[in-house]
Formats: sequence, structure tokens, C-alpha cells
Amino acid sequence: PFSWYEQMRKESPVRKDEKRGAWDVFDYQSVKYVLEAKEFFSSNRSKKQDDQQKSPIELSLISIDPPKHTQMRSLVNKAFTPKVMKAWRPRVERIAKQLLDNIDPAADIDVVKQFSYPLPVMVIAEILGVPLQDQSRFKEWSNWVVAGPKDNSPEAIRLLEENQQRTYHELYVYFKEIVRNKRETPGEDIISVLLGAKALGAVLTEEEIIGFCILLLVAGNETTTNLISNAFYCFTEFPEVFEEIIKDTEGTLPLAIEEVLRYRSPVQAMSRVAKEDTLLGEARIKAGDIVVAWMGSANRDEQQFKDAGRFNIKRKPNPHLAFGKGIHFCLGAPLARLEAEIALQEWIKRYPAFKRSDDFTLEPIQSTFVYGLKEFKLTVL
Ligand code: HEM
Repeated sequence: PFSWYEQMRKESPVRKDEKRGAWDVFDYQSVKYVLEAKEFFSSNRSKKQDDQQKSPIELSLISIDPPKHTQMRSLVNKAFTPKVMKAWRPRVERIAKQLLDNIDPAADIDVVKQFSYPLPVMVIAEILGVPLQDQSRFKEWSNWVVAGPKDNSPEAIRLLEENQQRTYHELYVYFKEIVRNKRETPGEDIISVLLGAKALGAVLTEEEIIGFCILLLVAGNETTTNLISNAFYCFTEFPEVFEEIIKDTEGTLPLAIEEVLRYRSPVQAMSRVAKEDTLLGEARIKAGDIVVAWMGSANRDEQQFKDAGRFNIKRKPNPHLAFGKGIHFCLGAPLARLEAEIALQEWIKRYPAFKRSDDFTLEPIQSTFVYGLKEFKLTVL
């Protein structure tokens, strides 16, 4: 998409695509503005008026505006404090090592399937405090929730909606049971933290906690998988940069991960709905219009990043927008960074030398907003 972005930034950084009836925003300053200007741009993208008909995601943190968002966010922040993060480190390390133990370096390794895909699911399952044996169901559920229709036919869309509704129902029933159990016997997990959380004089209802668990499953899995896979992609694309990382992994990795986030952003775009008639530069946006903020393009904007097209692991500061900006800034960013750092570090400790396999083919995920690889075969040297 990157050459298309470049052309759009040059020719029409804010434009209306009449075919979709939506606005696209490509330059750094405007993307940042759309994400920050919560007064003008709403995160409530649902066409359904009645809350009763909305899915748990449509009712969750990522889809609501202030003042409700402010209250809920300050409650769930309590589950993502630096202290909580520190406690997760050894758990994430154990999971990464366990996955590496199961890899046979003599054969080609599909790093997506064997490493970057299972890792975040296992981490989130543990953080939510759900039994290990439920993990395969977790994967199936999270696949359905993030799936798109096979094609644009009404039949494919209907089938997907049916499957998603069934999935939401199963998730709901599942988490209801878990939440009840945790209320009786709290543990060292997010759900137990949230059951006891109080902020701005409020607590979370059981329904809200269930919705939040489902959001974590959706928001935290595929995104983190793609960050880890995209790091392997960049490292094999620029072997001379990877040499630098090998020499001092601990020192270079955190900045290198930021550069992967900028250069190959796992989430390329987020959308908003205009609350009222608004001017964005010269563009006249009307109330109710959909506005797509292309972070993947903003992150390559030469006006903001010197040599934006260069993968430079020394870039500092690196104010990329890969985790969004403003009040909806990714809640899980510290966890995603931790997972990526530990995964890559543990991998490099065992397999510092590897290359793209001879039967490597570049197979991007079929999605406009998500950027990653379906499969990535490596050969350990
Ligand atoms: C929000 C990206 C990992 C939980 C967001 C947003 C972005 C994003 C762009 C902003 C959405 C908006 O402005 O509308 C990413 C990327 C990740 C990642 C690139 C991995 C590399 C995670 C993880 C979790 C998580 C691991 C949790 C375990 C959330 C939540 C929100 C969010 C709860 C909503 C925050 C709010 O609306 O206040 N993420 N995310 N994310 N993310 Fe992440």
C-alpha cells in the first residue's frame, strides 16, 4: 500500500472516495488530528441505534465516546499499570520458551503458525486467568470475531454474521461463568482486578467486564501476532540492520520494535464518524460522514519522519501512530511491546542466524486495515 499512500499524500492528503462515500486522511498532521479531536470525531461506528442489538465490541471501550469512555478507561487502566506489567514478564517469558521448545530447527519453520500466532493467545488466556485447556476454543473464537466475509455476496455476509453472532453468544456464556467463579475465588488475573476496581465513584458491571474480556481477545491477538511477524519480515529484508541487533540485542531491540511499528504498522487505519459539520484543511466533512485515518500512511510521511522510507532502528524520537493517539490510545501497548521484546529476544538467543526459506512466498493478510503475513517460512542456519 505504501506507494499508493505516497501518491495520495502528494495529490490529495484528505479526500472523499465517492464510491464508498467515506473520507480518507493520509498525512501525519491530519491523521493525528482526527484521532485526537474527540469533540468532532466519534468512535461509535455502529449503525444500530438500539444498544440491545449491538455486539459486545460495539458496546466496548474502543467504540464509545466520553463521558462514558473516560469512566470505563479509568477503571480498566488499573489492570494495565506498570506494576501489573512487571508481574507479567516471567509469564510471557515462560510461554515464549515453551513455544520455542516445540520448534524443530532442522525443518523449515512457519514463524507465524508456530510462534507469533500462538504466543499472544496463550498470554491473553493466562492474563485473563482461563484454564489452559480452553485455549483451542479461544483461537477459534478470536478467528471468527476478526474474520471478514469470503466475498461481497449477501450470502457470504449473512454466513459471517451468523457465525459471529454464535461466537459472541458462546463467548458471553463462557465468560459469564468465569466471572462468577472469579468473584467467589479471586486470582492473579485481570478479571479479578476488574471485579475489585473502583474509579470516579464507579465500578464495572458484570456485562461490562464480559465485553472487555471479549475486546481484549480481539484487540490483542492478531495485532501482536502481526507485530512479531512483521519484525521477522523487516529483519530478513534488511540483514545489515539485523547484524546491528545481533551485536547488542538488549540495547537495540526496544527501538527496533518501535521502528517495525512505524515501518510496517500492524494496524494501518482506524475509522471515525463526524459528529457535526467540520472543516479539515479545505475538506468540508458533513455530520455522519465516515473518516478513515490512515496511520500506515502517516507513519511514512516525510514531513514528519526524515528518510521515512528507510528502516532505521536508531530513530529517536519515533512518534509513530501505530497505537493510535489521544483518548483511545492502545491500552495494551505496554503488553504488546513486552510480548514482542521477549519473543524476539528469546528467539535470537536460540536462533541468531536464519533466512527466508527457499520456498518462501509473500502472502499478505487479505485486509485493508490489518497488515501482516499469513505465513512466513524461515530456515535456521
Ligand atoms: C486500542 C493498535 C495490541 C488492547 C488500539 C488502537 C490501536 C491499537 C491503533 C486505537 C484504536 C482507535 O483509536 O480507535 C494495537 C497494536 C497492537 C495492539 C498495533 C499490537 C502491536 C493490543 C493488546 C491489547 C490491546 C495486546 C490488550 C491485551 C486495546 C484496547 C484498546 C486498543 C482495549 C481500546 C482503548 C480505548 O478505546 O480506550 N490498539 N493494539 N491492544 N487496544 Fe491495541
